[in-house]
Amino acid sequence: MTEAPKKLYIKTYGCQMNVYDSERMAEAMGGQGYAQTDRPEDADLILLNTCHIREKAAEKVYSELGRYKGLKAANPDLKIGVAGCVAQAEGEEILRRQPLVDLVVGPQSYHRLPELEARARGGKSAIDTEFPEEMKFDHLPARPKPKRGPTAFLTVQEGCDKFCAFCVVPYTRGAEVSRPVARVLKEAEGLVEQGVREITLLGQNVNAYHGADGADSWGLARLIRRLAEIDGLERIRFTTSHPRDMDDDLIAAHGDCEKLMPYLHLPVQSGSDRILKRMNRGHTAEEYIRLVDRIRSARPDILMSGDFIVGFPEETEEDFRATLALVEEIGYGQCYSFKYSARPGTPAAERPVVDPAKADDRLQRLQTLLTAQQRAVQDSMVGRTVGVLVEKSGRLPGQVVGKSDHLHAVHLTANLSPGDLVDVRITESAPNSLAGILV
Ligand code: SAH
Ligand code: SF4
Ligand code: F3S
Repeated sequence: MTEAPKKLYIKTYGCQMNVYDSERMAEAMGGQGYAQTDRPEDADLILLNTCHIREKAAEKVYSELGRYKGLKAANPDLKIGVAGCVAQAEGEEILRRQPLVDLVVGPQSYHRLPELEARARGGKSAIDTEFPEEMKFDHLPARPKPKRGPTAFLTVQEGCDKFCAFCVVPYTRGAEVSRPVARVLKEAEGLVEQGVREITLLGQNVNAYHGADGADSWGLARLIRRLAEIDGLERIRFTTSHPRDMDDDLIAAHGDCEKLMPYLHLPVQSGSDRILKRMNRGHTAEEYIRLVDRIRSARPDILMSGDFIVGFPEETEEDFRATLALVEEIGYGQCYSFKYSARPGTPAAERPVVDPAKADDRLQRLQTLLTAQQRAVQDSMVGRTVGVLVEKSGRLPGQVVGKSDHLHAVHLTANLSPGDLVDVRITESAPNSLAGILV
């Protein structure tokens, strides 16, 4: 007789890397007899994979944990774990603040999760926030082989050495590390065998990738060109890039590597040189603009995406206007903008804050401009024929939804299945998606 599998519920916050990590943790716990559930009330193990990037993100974790009190009373075998960047940043403090928590595991220690779970079940202290020498992914089980959806994330680089003055990532994820070329290729080939047709390479500074291949070291462009040789892999994307690591080879790849999609997320944060300097970004607004010009010479139809922070300490109205001017100059197709949030332990947290009402007002003005740009870029797709990778069925009968080369969601009515890659003529632009017909 086989025992009914234990149930694992994982809730993921934060960036795409956490999405990838959650998948890998579920695989690791699968090896311990856990099947995944989407109902926390059925779970024997709940894992929150957390984000520490802004104050609100971190606070969400504690309010979610509070909701699990009743579940623990109902199921004395339930164990609760906190993983991810809050786990790394707060460590034991989490156990003090929320005694419901049984285990705490930082982002570089996931290969030790099975062992930590066993310790927690044995009533022992189960906390690991080390930055071990070995790389977690090389100790996690190989990805299992069942068929999966047509798109996947693949982490190739992790950590950050840039130390922007506002950011917790260098502290929560540790120093920049790249996975060796052979391991990345093997994982990518495995994904393609499982039906994946589009891979998004992930890294906190993915374009700083320098993976070992024997004594040789490969940059991201070389890795992408090699991945493009895999039969059945049709599309390659990567995120997130830092302007300082955008080298000539990578720019050239956008022009000559057909499988590399015409979309680039290249955060700049501010358009004011004074603020960029205080942020420790290591480049000026003009350098960023020139860089985007060079990328667009290589790939004229590339869709640019970015991140912005408003209300950084000492930001004046004039600084903010420089940000608006940069946005006007670039013309973004996609953008994320945030109000500055002081993070404990970062240098900027010590500096004089901007009046919150002013910061709110700036965020609103910036978002109005960015939304208009996004909308204009999306509307300009009407009448064009674009490649679409079908991901799932739509809400209407016979309808399917996929992503265009430029990462716009596209709806169409056609007899297609997930994984089909088709040409679609765009006929309509709705607020958050496009619609079209099969060519
Ligand atoms: N590694 C990436 C992104 C890191 S976090 C990069 O360097 O671009 C994603 C985004 O969150 C950042 O680009 C930044 O815009 C925002 N962010 C980071 N720290 C923040 C803070 N303290 N307050 C507000 N936004 C922040
Ligand atoms: Fe954070 Fe800057 Fe590193 Fe990006 S480059 S992760 S914003 S420190
Ligand atoms: Fe958040 Fe950590 Fe990602 S702080 S954005 S989950 S690297």
